[in-house]
Parts: sequence; structure tokens; C-alpha cells
Amino acid sequence: MTREIRITPSILNADFTDLGSEIRRISEVSDLVHLDVMDNIFVPNFTFSFEAASKIVSDSVLPVDAHLMVMNCDQIGPQFAEIGCSSVTIHSEATTNISSTLRTIRSLGSRAGLAIKPGTDIDDYASFADEVDMFLIMTVEPGFGGQSFMEPMLQKISRTRSIIGNRPIWLQVDGGISLKTIEQAAQAGADTFVAGSAVFSAEDPASMVTALRKLAESVL
Ligand code: DX5
Ligand code: ZN
Repeated sequence: MTREIRITPSILNADFTDLGSEIRRISEVSDLVHLDVMDNIFVPNFTFSFEAASKIVSDSVLPVDAHLMVMNCDQIGPQFAEIGCSSVTIHSEATTNISSTLRTIRSLGSRAGLAIKPGTDIDDYASFADEVDMFLIMTVEPGFGGQSFMEPMLQKISRTRSIIGNRPIWLQVDGGISLKTIEQAAQAGADTFVAGSAVFSAEDPASMVTALRKLAESVL
């Protein structure tokens, strides 16, 4: 099966005072913009209130891929679907009733993603393969941008690819994706790549997105 590559830049390390312009800088070359929502409880960092996130979503020129690093995804996941996110990813470790939350997100018109922290076993969540539109394999501990890619996660990416089989599920990786690591992640089976600091610390973020895409496509 041929895989389509998607690049979903994270604005976590972009200029928060002018996110509209930051998103426009990468809009021509990116598939979606990745919005990291953190509550300072599930992860030791805080990004946006729900009101601020809603404004970003409604102003964004790109479809939004929301990554919810918050407690109580059962309640908050559907709220992000309601405000029009194209994709809403809940954490397996922060959701009590995963099936019904995924179902509600889908019924509200968003793609439903399930995220797995580095210490969580993907095999414990393989049974959700018929209920998700995307698996997100964290390749750093969630919370901060600019960390190094965790190489031991390559095996988990391959395992997730084999769990997915022929289903049209996206396999996203998040954390430490750069020109140095994207090929290994693609080789292991990822097709959807979050890149935060690699893109927004580059002199020309759009060219960096294009360069990352080319490298990922080169290993297919
Ligand atoms: C980390 C976030 C990531 C982060 C990635 O918890 O989920 O999306 O922005 O940043 P980089 O690409 O710098 O690792
Ligand atoms: Zn993220």
C-alpha cells in the first residue's frame, strides 16, 4: 500500500503573540497545523485556555490537528471537535472511556486520534484500531518542544504499523522530528510528522517543511 506523507508543524515553539502570521508562513506547504494543548496537570506545562484555543482554530488558515495533553479527555476531546478541529487526538492515559470519546469526536465531524506516551505499550490499545483515524506515537515525553527523538520508539512505530495493517489509519509521530530523524521514523512506518522546533527555528519555515517532506517521501 502506498503511503501518503503529511507534515503537521507544531506551533508550540512559534511566536505566540502572532500565531496567525506564524501559521500563514507554513500554510502553503503543510497539511494541517498541530496545536498542542497542555493543562499543567497531565503535563508540566500550560499552553492555551479553551477560549484562546477556540480563537486560534477559528482564525487558522490551515485545518487544525489538536493534540490534547490534558486530564479528562472524555469531556475536553468533544469540545475541541465542536469548535471545528479537523482532527482531535486524546491521550490513552488521560481518557476513561476511550471508545465512546472517539465515537463522539467522530460524530461531531472530526477525525479521532489516540496518543500513546513513551512508557505506554501500544499492544494495550491495539483493539482500538477499528475505532481511530490516527495513532499518535510520542517520540519524546509530552510537555515541551525541542527535546531529542527517543530512538527506542522506532520499534513501537513499526509495531503500530503492523497493527494498522491495511486500514487507512494515519500513523503520526511527535517529538524531535528533524532532518536528522524523519527518515528513520518514516522507515519504521510513520506517515504523519509533527515538527515544532525544526520548523519554527529554521530561517525559512516553509522550506524546512518542504525539505522534511522530501526526506520522508524518499524512503517510501
Ligand atoms: C511535545 C509536543 C510536540 C512538540 C514537538 O509535548 O506534543 O508537538 O511541539 O516539538 P519538537 O518538534 O520541537 O520536538
Ligand atoms: Zn504534539
